[in-house]
Amino acid sequence: MNLTILTNLQKDNTMNILVTGGAGFIGSAVIRYIIMNTSNRVLNIDKLTYAGNLKSLSNICNNPRYKFSQTDICNQQKLIEIFDDFCPDIVMNLAAETHVDKSIVGSADFINTNIIGTYTMLEVSRQYYDKLDTFKKSQFKFHHISTDEVYGDLGDTQKLFDENTNYAPSSPYSASKASSDHLVKAWGKTYGLPIIITNCSNNYGPYQFPEKLIPLTILNALDGNPLPIYGSGQQIRDWLYVDDHASALYLVATQADIGKTYVIGGNNQQKNIDVVQKICQLLEELAPHKPPHIKYYKDLITHTQDRLGHDFRYAINSNKIERELGWKPKETFETGLKKTVNWYLENVDWVRDVKTGDYKKWLKNQYTIN
Ligand code: NAD
Ligand code: TYD
Repeated sequence: MNLTILTNLQKDNTMNILVTGGAGFIGSAVIRYIIMNTSNRVLNIDKLTYAGNLKSLSNICNNPRYKFSQTDICNQQKLIEIFDDFCPDIVMNLAAETHVDKSIVGSADFINTNIIGTYTMLEVSRQYYDKLDTFKKSQFKFHHISTDEVYGDLGDTQKLFDENTNYAPSSPYSASKASSDHLVKAWGKTYGLPIIITNCSNNYGPYQFPEKLIPLTILNALDGNPLPIYGSGQQIRDWLYVDDHASALYLVATQADIGKTYVIGGNNQQKNIDVVQKICQLLEELAPHKPPHIKYYKDLITHTQDRLGHDFRYAINSNKIERELGWKPKETFETGLKKTVNWYLENVDWVRDVKTGDYKKWLKNQYTIN
Protein backbone atom coordinates (compact mmCIF):
# COMPACT_ATOMS: atom_id res chain seq x y z
CA MET A 1 0.00 0.00 0.00
CA ASN A 2 1.49 3.38 -0.93
CA LEU A 3 1.92 6.12 1.63
CA THR A 4 -0.80 8.45 0.26
CA ILE A 5 -3.45 5.75 0.44
CA LEU A 6 -2.32 4.80 3.94
CA THR A 7 -2.47 8.43 5.07
CA ASN A 8 -5.95 8.85 3.58
CA LEU A 9 -7.11 5.66 5.24
CA GLN A 10 -5.78 6.86 8.58
CA LYS A 11 -7.58 10.17 8.04
CA ASP A 12 -10.81 8.33 7.30
CA ASN A 13 -10.39 6.19 10.39
CA THR A 14 -9.92 9.18 12.64
CA MET A 15 -12.89 9.45 14.97
CA ASN A 16 -14.56 12.29 16.81
CA ILE A 17 -14.80 11.28 20.45
CA LEU A 18 -16.97 13.31 22.79
CA VAL A 19 -15.90 12.85 26.41
CA THR A 20 -18.07 14.20 29.23
CA GLY A 21 -16.42 14.92 32.58
CA GLY A 22 -13.03 15.21 30.89
CA ALA A 23 -11.73 17.73 33.43
CA GLY A 24 -12.14 15.15 36.19
CA PHE A 25 -9.73 12.51 37.43
CA ILE A 26 -10.53 9.61 35.08
CA GLY A 27 -11.88 11.72 32.20
CA SER A 28 -8.63 13.69 32.00
CA ALA A 29 -6.63 10.42 31.97
CA VAL A 30 -8.82 9.15 29.12
CA ILE A 31 -8.31 12.36 27.12
CA ARG A 32 -4.55 12.38 27.69
CA TYR A 33 -4.50 8.73 26.58
CA ILE A 34 -6.48 9.39 23.38
CA ILE A 35 -4.59 12.53 22.37
CA MET A 36 -1.17 11.03 23.08
CA ASN A 37 -1.75 7.53 21.65
CA THR A 38 -4.23 7.90 18.78
CA SER A 39 -5.04 10.26 15.91
CA ASN A 40 -8.63 10.87 17.08
CA ARG A 41 -10.17 14.23 17.90
CA VAL A 42 -11.62 14.85 21.36
CA LEU A 43 -14.25 17.29 22.54
CA ASN A 44 -14.30 17.58 26.33
CA ILE A 45 -17.65 18.64 27.78
CA ASP A 46 -17.43 19.53 31.45
CA LYS A 47 -19.42 21.79 33.76
CA LEU A 48 -16.29 22.45 35.85
CA THR A 49 -17.70 21.72 39.28
CA TYR A 50 -15.25 21.76 42.20
CA ALA A 51 -13.96 18.41 40.83
CA GLY A 52 -13.22 19.72 37.33
CA ASN A 53 -9.65 20.90 36.85
CA LEU A 54 -8.46 21.93 33.40
CA LYS A 55 -4.87 22.07 34.69
CA SER A 56 -4.97 18.27 34.56
CA LEU A 57 -5.03 18.66 30.77
CA SER A 58 -2.30 21.29 30.51
CA ASN A 59 0.08 18.99 28.61
CA ILE A 60 -2.42 18.37 25.76
CA CYS A 61 -4.72 21.43 25.83
CA ASN A 62 -2.94 23.15 22.92
CA ASN A 63 -3.16 20.11 20.67
CA PRO A 64 -5.35 20.97 17.64
CA ARG A 65 -7.20 17.65 18.06
CA TYR A 66 -8.44 18.67 21.53
CA LYS A 67 -11.25 21.11 22.34
CA PHE A 68 -13.11 22.00 25.52
CA SER A 69 -16.63 23.26 26.16
CA GLN A 70 -17.85 24.34 29.59
CA THR A 71 -21.25 22.69 29.42
CA ASP A 72 -23.60 21.01 31.88
CA ILE A 73 -24.76 17.58 30.69
CA CYS A 74 -28.26 18.55 31.88
CA ASN A 75 -28.38 21.38 29.28
CA GLN A 76 -30.24 19.65 26.45
CA GLN A 77 -30.36 22.59 24.01
CA LYS A 78 -26.63 23.25 24.22
CA LEU A 79 -25.87 19.55 23.84
CA ILE A 80 -28.01 19.33 20.69
CA GLU A 81 -26.00 22.18 19.14
CA ILE A 82 -22.71 20.59 20.20
CA PHE A 83 -23.65 17.19 18.78
CA ASP A 84 -24.77 18.71 15.47
CA ASP A 85 -21.53 20.67 15.22
CA PHE A 86 -18.95 18.16 16.49
CA CYS A 87 -20.66 15.05 14.99
CA PRO A 88 -19.31 12.49 17.48
CA ASP A 89 -18.61 8.91 16.41
CA ILE A 90 -18.23 7.84 20.03
CA VAL A 91 -19.62 9.34 23.23
CA MET A 92 -17.84 8.46 26.48
CA ASN A 93 -20.02 9.57 29.38
CA LEU A 94 -17.92 10.11 32.50
CA ALA A 95 -19.42 13.32 33.90
CA ALA A 96 -20.79 12.64 37.37
CA GLU A 97 -20.82 13.64 40.98
CA THR A 98 -18.56 10.97 42.45
CA HIS A 99 -17.84 11.36 46.14
CA VAL A 100 -19.81 9.00 48.41
CA ASP A 101 -19.36 11.16 51.54
CA LYS A 102 -20.74 14.22 49.72
CA SER A 103 -23.71 12.20 48.47
CA ILE A 104 -24.58 11.26 52.06
CA VAL A 105 -24.58 14.90 53.18
CA GLY A 106 -26.55 16.16 50.16
CA SER A 107 -27.70 14.08 47.21
CA ALA A 108 -29.43 16.67 44.96
CA ASP A 109 -26.45 17.22 42.64
CA PHE A 110 -26.00 13.46 42.37
CA ILE A 111 -29.60 12.96 41.29
CA ASN A 112 -29.37 15.86 38.82
CA THR A 113 -26.08 15.09 37.14
CA ASN A 114 -25.91 11.32 37.41
CA ILE A 115 -29.56 10.58 36.57
CA ILE A 116 -31.02 13.61 34.76
CA GLY A 117 -27.67 14.37 33.11
CA THR A 118 -27.31 10.81 31.79
CA TYR A 119 -30.94 10.86 30.65
CA THR A 120 -30.26 14.12 28.79
CA MET A 121 -27.13 12.69 27.17
CA LEU A 122 -29.14 9.64 26.08
CA GLU A 123 -31.97 11.69 24.60
CA VAL A 124 -29.61 13.98 22.70
CA SER A 125 -27.62 10.96 21.48
CA ARG A 126 -30.79 9.18 20.38
CA GLN A 127 -32.05 12.15 18.37
CA TYR A 128 -28.59 12.63 16.84
CA TYR A 129 -28.22 8.91 16.07
CA ASP A 130 -31.63 8.75 14.36
CA LYS A 131 -30.47 11.39 11.85
CA LEU A 132 -27.22 9.59 10.93
CA ASP A 133 -26.78 7.73 7.63
CA THR A 134 -26.37 3.95 7.66
CA PHE A 135 -22.57 4.01 7.69
CA LYS A 136 -22.33 6.58 10.50
CA LYS A 137 -24.97 4.63 12.45
CA SER A 138 -22.84 1.49 12.19
CA GLN A 139 -19.91 3.37 13.79
CA PHE A 140 -21.75 5.20 16.59
CA LYS A 141 -21.40 4.10 20.22
CA PHE A 142 -22.58 5.53 23.53
CA HIS A 143 -20.18 4.29 26.20
CA HIS A 144 -21.41 4.87 29.74
CA ILE A 145 -18.72 4.77 32.44
CA SER A 146 -19.98 3.43 35.76
CA THR A 147 -18.83 1.97 39.03
CA ASP A 148 -18.75 -1.42 40.75
CA GLU A 149 -20.49 0.29 43.69
CA VAL A 150 -23.82 -0.32 41.89
CA TYR A 151 -23.52 -3.98 43.01
CA GLY A 152 -23.42 -3.07 46.70
CA ASP A 153 -21.56 -4.85 49.44
CA LEU A 154 -19.73 -8.18 48.96
CA GLY A 155 -19.35 -8.47 52.73
CA ASP A 156 -16.78 -10.72 54.32
CA THR A 157 -16.98 -13.41 51.59
CA GLN A 158 -14.75 -14.79 48.84
CA LYS A 159 -17.16 -13.61 46.11
CA LEU A 160 -16.22 -11.24 43.29
CA PHE A 161 -18.42 -8.94 41.17
CA ASP A 162 -18.87 -9.92 37.53
CA GLU A 163 -21.15 -8.87 34.68
CA ASN A 164 -24.01 -11.02 36.06
CA THR A 165 -24.00 -9.62 39.59
CA ASN A 166 -27.36 -8.15 40.67
CA TYR A 167 -27.63 -4.44 41.34
CA ALA A 168 -27.90 -3.58 45.07
CA PRO A 169 -26.53 -0.04 45.59
CA SER A 170 -26.08 1.25 49.16
CA SER A 171 -25.26 4.98 48.98
CA PRO A 172 -27.01 7.90 47.26
CA TYR A 173 -23.98 8.00 44.91
CA SER A 174 -24.15 4.33 43.93
CA ALA A 175 -27.96 4.42 43.68
CA SER A 176 -27.72 7.37 41.27
CA LYS A 177 -25.11 5.53 39.18
CA ALA A 178 -27.25 2.36 39.21
CA SER A 179 -30.19 4.45 37.96
CA SER A 180 -28.06 5.84 35.15
CA ASP A 181 -26.95 2.32 34.14
CA HIS A 182 -30.60 1.22 33.95
CA LEU A 183 -31.48 4.23 31.80
CA VAL A 184 -28.60 3.45 29.43
CA LYS A 185 -29.72 -0.19 29.11
CA ALA A 186 -33.32 0.92 28.50
CA TRP A 187 -32.26 3.33 25.74
CA GLY A 188 -30.34 0.45 24.16
CA LYS A 189 -33.21 -2.01 24.33
CA THR A 190 -36.13 0.31 23.58
CA TYR A 191 -34.65 2.72 21.04
CA GLY A 192 -31.79 0.63 19.65
CA LEU A 193 -29.18 3.19 20.75
CA PRO A 194 -25.80 1.41 20.44
CA ILE A 195 -24.70 1.37 24.07
CA ILE A 196 -21.85 -0.17 26.08
CA ILE A 197 -21.43 -0.01 29.86
CA THR A 198 -18.34 -0.50 32.01
CA ASN A 199 -18.36 -0.82 35.81
CA CYS A 200 -14.98 -0.23 37.38
CA SER A 201 -13.49 -0.59 40.86
CA ASN A 202 -11.77 2.20 42.84
CA ASN A 203 -9.23 4.16 40.79
CA TYR A 204 -6.12 5.88 42.10
CA GLY A 205 -3.23 7.77 40.50
CA PRO A 206 -2.12 11.25 39.41
CA TYR A 207 -4.55 14.21 39.29
CA GLN A 208 -7.13 12.76 41.72
CA PHE A 209 -8.95 15.39 43.79
CA PRO A 210 -7.85 15.10 47.43
CA GLU A 211 -11.26 14.16 48.80
CA LYS A 212 -10.71 10.46 48.00
CA LEU A 213 -8.74 8.18 50.32
CA ILE A 214 -5.35 7.95 48.57
CA PRO A 215 -4.64 11.60 47.61
CA LEU A 216 -6.22 12.80 50.87
CA THR A 217 -3.85 10.58 52.86
CA ILE A 218 -0.76 11.66 50.89
CA LEU A 219 -1.44 15.38 51.18
CA ASN A 220 -2.62 15.30 54.82
CA ALA A 221 0.48 13.32 55.79
CA LEU A 222 2.81 15.79 54.07
CA ASP A 223 1.08 18.64 55.93
CA GLY A 224 1.25 16.75 59.25
CA ASN A 225 -2.56 16.55 59.49
CA PRO A 226 -4.59 13.59 60.84
CA LEU A 227 -5.18 10.65 58.48
CA PRO A 228 -8.85 9.71 58.98
CA ILE A 229 -9.73 6.02 58.83
CA TYR A 230 -13.46 5.40 58.90
CA GLY A 231 -14.33 2.82 61.59
CA SER A 232 -12.01 -0.16 61.85
CA GLY A 233 -10.29 0.36 58.49
CA GLN A 234 -10.83 -3.32 57.70
CA GLN A 235 -13.00 -2.44 54.66
CA ILE A 236 -11.65 -3.68 51.33
CA ARG A 237 -11.46 -1.99 47.94
CA ASP A 238 -10.02 -3.39 44.66
CA TRP A 239 -7.66 -0.64 43.47
CA LEU A 240 -6.94 0.08 39.78
CA TYR A 241 -4.30 2.53 38.54
CA VAL A 242 -6.08 5.23 36.54
CA ASP A 243 -3.99 4.88 33.35
CA ASP A 244 -4.88 1.17 33.25
CA HIS A 245 -8.54 2.18 33.46
CA ALA A 246 -8.07 4.75 30.68
CA SER A 247 -6.57 2.14 28.34
CA ALA A 248 -9.41 -0.28 29.16
CA LEU A 249 -12.02 2.39 28.44
CA TYR A 250 -10.52 3.28 25.07
CA LEU A 251 -10.35 -0.40 24.15
CA VAL A 252 -13.97 -0.96 25.12
CA ALA A 253 -15.19 2.21 23.40
CA THR A 254 -13.48 1.29 20.13
CA GLN A 255 -13.52 -2.54 20.11
CA ALA A 256 -16.44 -3.86 22.16
CA ASP A 257 -19.62 -5.18 20.58
CA ILE A 258 -22.77 -3.13 21.04
CA GLY A 259 -24.85 -3.98 24.11
CA LYS A 260 -21.93 -5.42 26.07
CA THR A 261 -21.12 -4.77 29.70
CA TYR A 262 -17.65 -5.19 31.18
CA VAL A 263 -16.55 -5.02 34.79
CA ILE A 264 -13.01 -3.70 35.20
CA GLY A 265 -10.76 -4.14 38.22
CA GLY A 266 -7.15 -4.20 39.28
CA ASN A 267 -7.09 -7.58 41.06
CA ASN A 268 -5.68 -5.57 43.97
CA GLN A 269 -7.84 -6.10 47.05
CA GLN A 270 -6.53 -3.99 49.92
CA LYS A 271 -7.84 -3.12 53.38
CA ASN A 272 -8.16 0.65 53.89
CA ILE A 273 -5.85 0.56 56.90
CA ASP A 274 -3.18 -1.26 54.83
CA VAL A 275 -3.47 1.32 52.04
CA VAL A 276 -2.86 4.14 54.50
CA GLN A 277 0.01 2.26 56.18
CA LYS A 278 1.65 1.65 52.78
CA ILE A 279 1.40 5.34 51.89
CA CYS A 280 3.01 6.21 55.24
CA GLN A 281 5.87 3.76 54.57
CA LEU A 282 6.43 5.18 51.08
CA LEU A 283 6.51 8.72 52.46
CA GLU A 284 9.12 7.72 55.07
CA GLU A 285 11.30 6.69 52.12
CA LEU A 286 10.40 9.41 49.58
CA ALA A 287 9.73 12.42 51.86
CA PRO A 288 11.76 11.84 55.02
CA HIS A 289 11.79 15.56 56.04
CA LYS A 290 8.46 15.75 57.81
CA PRO A 291 6.74 18.45 59.88
CA PRO A 292 8.53 18.78 63.26
CA HIS A 293 5.60 17.64 65.43
CA ILE A 294 5.60 14.07 63.99
CA LYS A 295 8.09 11.24 64.35
CA TYR A 296 6.49 8.81 61.90
CA TYR A 297 3.78 9.51 59.33
CA LYS A 298 1.80 6.52 60.63
CA ASP A 299 1.40 8.33 63.98
CA LEU A 300 -1.09 10.61 62.18
CA ILE A 301 -3.56 7.72 61.61
CA THR A 302 -6.81 8.56 63.38
CA HIS A 303 -9.81 6.24 63.52
CA THR A 304 -13.01 8.26 63.11
CA GLN A 305 -16.72 7.51 63.12
CA ASP A 306 -17.64 5.09 60.34
CA ARG A 307 -19.33 6.26 57.11
CA LEU A 308 -23.12 5.75 57.10
CA GLY A 309 -24.08 2.66 55.09
CA HIS A 310 -20.38 1.89 54.51
CA ASP A 311 -19.95 -1.06 52.10
CA PHE A 312 -17.43 -3.52 53.55
CA ARG A 313 -15.90 -4.99 50.41
CA TYR A 314 -15.78 -4.50 46.63
CA ALA A 315 -13.76 -6.81 44.35
CA ILE A 316 -13.88 -7.54 40.63
CA ASN A 317 -13.52 -10.59 38.41
CA SER A 318 -12.10 -9.02 35.19
CA ASN A 319 -11.94 -12.31 33.23
CA LYS A 320 -14.40 -11.19 30.55
CA ILE A 321 -12.53 -8.06 29.42
CA GLU A 322 -9.24 -9.99 29.52
CA ARG A 323 -10.67 -12.92 27.51
CA GLU A 324 -12.65 -10.92 24.95
CA LEU A 325 -10.52 -7.78 24.49
CA GLY A 326 -7.11 -8.86 25.78
CA TRP A 327 -6.95 -6.13 28.45
CA LYS A 328 -4.88 -6.54 31.59
CA PRO A 329 -3.70 -3.88 34.06
CA LYS A 330 0.00 -3.00 33.78
CA GLU A 331 0.48 -1.74 37.33
CA THR A 332 0.50 -3.75 40.53
CA PHE A 333 -0.66 -1.90 43.64
CA GLU A 334 2.98 -1.50 44.72
CA THR A 335 4.19 0.03 41.42
CA GLY A 336 1.07 2.18 41.00
CA LEU A 337 1.12 3.49 44.56
CA LYS A 338 4.80 4.44 44.34
CA LYS A 339 4.15 6.29 41.04
CA THR A 340 1.20 8.06 42.64
CA VAL A 341 3.05 9.20 45.76
CA ASN A 342 5.95 10.40 43.60
CA TRP A 343 3.54 12.29 41.33
CA TYR A 344 2.01 14.21 44.27
CA LEU A 345 5.51 15.00 45.55
CA GLU A 346 6.71 16.23 42.17
CA ASN A 347 3.63 18.17 41.00
CA VAL A 348 3.70 20.90 43.59
CA ASP A 349 2.05 23.45 41.25
CA TRP A 350 -1.01 21.27 40.65
CA VAL A 351 -1.29 20.50 44.37
CA ARG A 352 -0.86 24.16 45.39
CA ASP A 353 -3.54 25.33 42.93
CA VAL A 354 -5.97 22.71 44.22
CA LYS A 355 -5.32 23.75 47.82
CA THR A 356 -5.70 27.48 47.10
CA GLY A 357 -8.57 27.10 44.62
CA ASP A 358 -6.50 28.79 41.87
CA TYR A 359 -7.16 25.82 39.56
CA LYS A 360 -10.56 27.39 38.95
CA LYS A 361 -8.91 30.27 37.06
CA TRP A 362 -7.46 27.96 34.41
CA LEU A 363 -9.61 28.10 31.26
CA LYS A 364 -8.07 27.16 27.92
CA ASN A 365 -9.08 26.40 24.41
CA GLN A 366 -12.85 26.95 24.51
CA TYR A 367 -14.91 25.26 21.81
CA THR A 368 -17.11 27.58 19.81
CA ILE A 369 -19.94 26.27 17.71
CA ASN A 370 -19.64 27.27 14.06
P1 NAD B 1 -14.39 13.29 39.20
O1 NAD B 1 -15.29 13.67 40.31
O2 NAD B 1 -12.93 13.41 39.36
O3 NAD B 1 -14.77 14.10 37.88
C1 NAD B 1 -16.08 14.30 37.47
C2 NAD B 1 -16.08 15.37 36.38
O4 NAD B 1 -17.44 15.55 35.95
C3 NAD B 1 -15.59 16.73 36.87
O5 NAD B 1 -14.68 17.27 35.94
C4 NAD B 1 -16.85 17.58 36.94
O6 NAD B 1 -16.62 18.95 36.69
C5 NAD B 1 -17.70 16.94 35.84
N1 NAD B 1 -19.14 17.17 36.05
C6 NAD B 1 -19.85 17.02 37.19
N2 NAD B 1 -21.14 17.34 36.97
C7 NAD B 1 -21.25 17.68 35.65
C8 NAD B 1 -22.32 18.09 34.82
N3 NAD B 1 -23.58 18.23 35.30
N4 NAD B 1 -22.07 18.33 33.52
C9 NAD B 1 -20.81 18.21 33.01
N5 NAD B 1 -19.76 17.86 33.77
C10 NAD B 1 -19.97 17.59 35.07
O7 NAD B 1 -14.81 11.79 38.84
P2 NAD B 1 -13.92 10.57 38.37
O8 NAD B 1 -13.34 9.92 39.55
O9 NAD B 1 -13.03 11.03 37.26
O10 NAD B 1 -15.05 9.60 37.78
C11 NAD B 1 -15.43 9.69 36.41
C12 NAD B 1 -16.51 8.65 36.14
O11 NAD B 1 -16.01 7.35 36.46
C13 NAD B 1 -17.76 8.84 36.99
O12 NAD B 1 -18.89 8.58 36.18
C14 NAD B 1 -17.64 7.81 38.09
O13 NAD B 1 -18.90 7.38 38.54
C15 NAD B 1 -16.88 6.70 37.38
N6 NAD B 1 -16.02 5.87 38.25
C16 NAD B 1 -15.13 6.44 39.11
C17 NAD B 1 -14.31 5.62 39.89
C18 NAD B 1 -13.28 6.20 40.82
O14 NAD B 1 -12.66 5.44 41.58
N7 NAD B 1 -13.00 7.49 40.79
C19 NAD B 1 -14.43 4.23 39.80
C20 NAD B 1 -15.37 3.69 38.90
C21 NAD B 1 -16.15 4.52 38.13
P1 TYD C 1 -13.16 6.79 48.76
O1 TYD C 1 -11.79 7.13 48.27
O2 TYD C 1 -14.03 7.92 49.23
O3 TYD C 1 -13.86 5.94 47.61
P2 TYD C 1 -15.23 5.09 47.66
O4 TYD C 1 -16.04 5.55 48.81
O5 TYD C 1 -15.85 5.41 46.35
O6 TYD C 1 -14.83 3.65 47.79
O7 TYD C 1 -13.00 5.77 49.97
C1 TYD C 1 -12.29 4.57 49.82
C2 TYD C 1 -12.40 3.82 51.13
O8 TYD C 1 -11.70 4.55 52.15
C3 TYD C 1 -13.84 3.71 51.64
O9 TYD C 1 -13.99 2.45 52.28
C4 TYD C 1 -13.97 4.82 52.66
C5 TYD C 1 -12.56 4.93 53.22
N1 TYD C 1 -12.12 6.27 53.63
C6 TYD C 1 -11.53 6.45 54.89
O10 TYD C 1 -11.41 5.49 55.70
N2 TYD C 1 -11.09 7.70 55.23
C7 TYD C 1 -11.22 8.76 54.39
O11 TYD C 1 -10.81 9.89 54.75
C8 TYD C 1 -11.82 8.57 53.09
C9 TYD C 1 -11.99 9.72 52.14
C10 TYD C 1 -12.25 7.29 52.77
